[in-house]
Amino acid sequence: MLGKIAKWMQSKELTAGKDELELDPNLIPEHVAIIMDGNGRWAKKRGLPRVAGHRAGMKAVKEVTRAANDLGIKVLTLYAFSTENWKRPKDEVDYLMKLPQEYILTELDELIEQNVQVRMLGNPEQLPSFTVEAVLEAKERTKLNTGLILNFALNYGSRDEIVQAIQQLAGDVKCGQVDIEEISEEIFNRYLYTNGLPDPDLLIRTSGEVRLSNFMLWQLAYAEMYFSEVYWPDFSKRELWKAIYNYQHRNRRYGAV
Ligand code: IPE
Ligand code: IPE
Ligand code: MG
Repeated sequence: MLGKIAKWMQSKELTAGKDELELDPNLIPEHVAIIMDGNGRWAKKRGLPRVAGHRAGMKAVKEVTRAANDLGIKVLTLYAFSTENWKRPKDEVDYLMKLPQEYILTELDELIEQNVQVRMLGNPEQLPSFTVEAVLEAKERTKLNTGLILNFALNYGSRDEIVQAIQQLAGDVKCGQVDIEEISEEIFNRYLYTNGLPDPDLLIRTSGEVRLSNFMLWQLAYAEMYFSEVYWPDFSKRELWKAIYNYQHRNRRYGAV
């Protein structure tokens, strides 16, 4: 069900016809983060098993990645598996763990051709080795590319990320590498998985849910939020354009007037 906030946002959304959607090339968000939600409901609506929704969601990943790259977006972060998603049935988790490998096998050549850099954020420890190896291979083979940074959040949890950052930082304080007094937001940032990347300018969540589900709590401090009713497998290039169009009509104030 679409929440009140999402409804309000969509009332402000374009009412323009198909060809009237014009994006300002000078106002393209640098970093777009997406909570890809609704695969299960997409499948259920069609009488299919949940995993069919995850498979269909891969197509949307391909389309949105290409569209983001074409628009000149610098970073696209996709929430693919959360630290809480281990609570799902084993069959579903097993299927989700195989998707990155399959995606990379079928897409890597094209990603290289598109000049995309693949990266991962999340804790690799609990992930099966074939999942991590596939992502690391893609990372290695695309590391010299200069186009879109495509970040997969896999076994990612924001609280987990913050706790591991604190552990590492505390370790560096203990061994005298960092002074307590010099800890700043900038220094703290260096201990996060997103080290070196700009904060997201735009967060998109599909499927009508209006929550963060433990995603980038620190990094989203000043992101613009866009909630779409569309289930992830139906999220298309045009849906991305709509989100960006909406973003371009916001007034970002960062606390000033
Ligand atoms: C998002 O779709 C994909 C993952 C969380 C891996 P869901 O699987 O959460 O789909 P719904 O929310 O049950 O419809
Ligand atoms: C968030 O979606 C995680 C991903 C999209 C990977 P969920 O479907 O797991 O979130 P909740 O459980 O509805 O909050
Ligand atoms: Mg969900």
